[in-house]
Amino acid sequence: MSKTVLVSGGAGYIGSHVTVELSQAGYEVVVADNLSNCDLTCLEGVRKILGHPVTFKEMDFCTVKAVEDLFDSFRFDAVIHFAAFKAVGESVSEPLKYYRNNLESFINVVEASRKRGCAVLFSSSATVYGEVDNPPVTEKNDRQSATSPYGNTKQMCEDILRDSAAAYEGLSGIALRYFNPIGAHPSALIGELPRGVPNNLLPYVTQTAAGIRDCLSIFGDDYPTPDGTCLRDYIDVVDLAKAHVCAVGRMLGGKMESAYEIFNIGTGRPVSVLELVKTFEEATGVKVNCRIAPRRPGDVTAIWADPSLAVEKLGWKAERPLVETLRSAWQWQQYVSRK
Ligand code: UD1
Repeated sequence: MSKTVLVSGGAGYIGSHVTVELSQAGYEVVVADNLSNCDLTCLEGVRKILGHPVTFKEMDFCTVKAVEDLFDSFRFDAVIHFAAFKAVGESVSEPLKYYRNNLESFINVVEASRKRGCAVLFSSSATVYGEVDNPPVTEKNDRQSATSPYGNTKQMCEDILRDSAAAYEGLSGIALRYFNPIGAHPSALIGELPRGVPNNLLPYVTQTAAGIRDCLSIFGDDYPTPDGTCLRDYIDVVDLAKAHVCAVGRMLGGKMESAYEIFNIGTGRPVSVLELVKTFEEATGVKVNCRIAPRRPGDVTAIWADPSLAVEKLGWKAERPLVETLRSAWQWQQYVSRK
């Protein structure tokens, strides 16, 4: 009998890609989302890609009763938790909104899971590493104090899962630390749909290419890097989604070596801001109007993953070439612009 996986926040950017990959791998998927930061566009895309709808429940994970009722209505083998706020700047101006939403919802999910022996996968972030001296980073690198309430909630949720897995018999969990997720599904039916002005680089690039934004600001060209712009590890969203399928398989296949495990999910390849823009232009043939702007406060100079633990233990590695990822982001942007 197929296993059932709950994807909280599954109507969003990463959650919708994970829903597709899990379904195609043979899992029953239930998506629950309060639609606070997205609409039904991606779920509709998921339906078209799969050729059938996935079970969807509109609900808020901060409500204990709603979470308990959901877990009573299905027998989940695993939950992947995405339902969280993610705007770094907003978290600085509205910290309580972030602490309340991101922590309460996760506590409710972990509580419901531990009562029922459901495994928990948490979507963490490379932001927990802060500024590092000698990239690439391994999972053994120390975490730095978070520079934003958003980053702090990622660290705190990791700790909630670690401590709960240690304390409660039968509860196990994995935290995946994503580097910079980008791109869209090859069908161009699902992708990132930022509300308002994008904070992240690639959505800003595609919106500038589409003429929605006048000019991309490149935040700083005086960093101590080969071309002066920051280095990041841009991970294709479909590759990233596949890492979740591997991690769920590990949790449900009894392959975990301890009750709580952490994996970096990145390519292992640093790419500068200028290189990303240039590769986008080459991949799509579309020019991106850009200018050098002052550094953005809080940005780290350079960070990329050492993904060897994920390669060894999850049997996963990033595969999609950057040009394909960038083309997919552009196709998605054009699809969205036409809608
Ligand atoms: C950001 C978040 C991080 C989060 C991640 C999710 C911050 C400080 N960090 O990471 O917590 O987990 O997104 O994807 O916000 N850039 C420009 N112009 C732009 C936008 C970005 O030059 O208009 C540059 C940035 O300076 C950076 C790189 O592009 O060097 C990537 O930026 P971004 O996509 O925002 O990701 P991070 O800052 O790495």
